[in-house]
Parts: sequence; structure tokens; C-alpha cells
Amino acid sequence: MHFELASDEHNYMLAAESQFSRLEERTCRPILNGKRVPRSNEVVTFSFGMDGIDELVGRFEYFDINARNQSAEFGYSVNSKFRRRGIGTKMLLTAITHLFSTTTLNKLYCQTAAFNTASIRLLEKLNFHQDGVLREHHELDGELWDDCIYSVLRREWREI
Ligand SMILES: CC(C)(COP(=O)(O)OP(=O)(O)OC[C@H]1O[C@@H](n2cnc3c(N)ncnc32)[C@H](O)[C@@H]1OP(=O)(O)O)[C@@H](O)C(=O)NCCC(=O)NCCS
Repeated sequence: MHFELASDEHNYMLAAESQFSRLEERTCRPILNGKRVPRSNEVVTFSFGMDGIDELVGRFEYFDINARNQSAEFGYSVNSKFRRRGIGTKMLLTAITHLFSTTTLNKLYCQTAAFNTASIRLLEKLNFHQDGVLREHHELDGELWDDCIYSVLRREWREI
């Protein structure tokens, strides 16, 4: 066996070969008219406030909505002045309950670094499932850390 960098002619032959296998089997990404739908840059953000506090206490956003497998990724952040008071917990409960009741999304997932104790504690407290670990995926100050993927499915979601 040998290998070489594909030439234009090879690429043409490889493209023709791909017609013999279904794109749906090769990707989980949305497909339209036989082609992958490009990733959208759309980000939907919810901002959170609290009575008696005249600044925002948190933010939840979701993005990379995949209409084919009905999933979306999300991220979140609590104003550093108001952490460790249960706001992150309330914010995720509110945002995720809202998404499952107002959209047809089936799965919500997020990616968080193994060093992010607060984030991991929050997700585990809410019974998110750890789908996997991306090893040495997250560079911080020259060190490579694992990233963890957590998710919840519509049928699993119950407010605690
Ligand atoms: C992660 C984050 C949203 C948590 O928000 P929060 O309002 O402090 O969370 P809560 O007060 O609801 O705490 C949730 C749980 O995490 C624990 N926790 C929170 N901060 C912690 C910390 N620094 N170390 C250890 N545990 C922590 C709490 O004790 C609580 O667990 P418990 O109920 O068993 O005691 C907040 O730390 C943050 O905004 N971090 C920066 C942004 C970020 O990392 N986002 C996630 C990227 S995917």
C-alpha cells in the first residue's frame, strides 16, 4: 500500500466515489438538496436580571442549531459579583425549561473545560449526562486540559 497527496484527478475520482455512499451516513450535520448546510453563526442570547439588582446577573446563549438531529449547543455565565448564590442553577433551569417548551429541540449540550469546577458541578447537579471527553483539547496558559461534553435530552429533563 502507498499513499500520496490527492491530485485534482484523484479528487475528481474521490468525489465520484462518494456518490456511492449516502451523505446522511457520513455526517450528522443538516443536509439540504444533497449538500451539507453550512454552520450558522446565529447565537440566541437570554439575559437574566433580579429584582433589586440594577445590573444583569447572568447570560445564557444557544447556537449551532441542528435542525436535522434537533440539537443545539449552549453556554452560560453568571456576573462574577453574584456567583455561588444559586443563580447559575436557576438560570439553567429557566432557560432549558423554556427551550424545551417553546422549541422542538431534543438535545441541548455544552462543552466545558475539566478545570472549570464550578461549571462541572453545576451541570452534574442538574443531572446532565457526560457524553464524552475531548482529551487535551483546551489550551490555558500553555497547558492542555481535557474538555467535557455534557448533554440533556428532552425526555430526561425534569426540574429539580
Ligand atoms: C459556572 C457558573 C455559571 C456557576 O454559576 P453560579 O451562580 O456560581 O452557580 P450556583 O451558585 O448555582 O452553583 C452551582 C453549584 O456549583 C457549585 N459551585 C459554584 N462555584 C463553584 C466553585 N468555584 N467551586 C466549586 N463549586 C462551585 C455550587 O456550590 C453549587 O453546588 P451545590 O449546590 O452542590 O453547593 C459561574 O461560575 C460562571 O459564570 N463561570 C464563568 C463562566 C463559565 O465558566 N461558564 C461555563 C462555560 S461552558
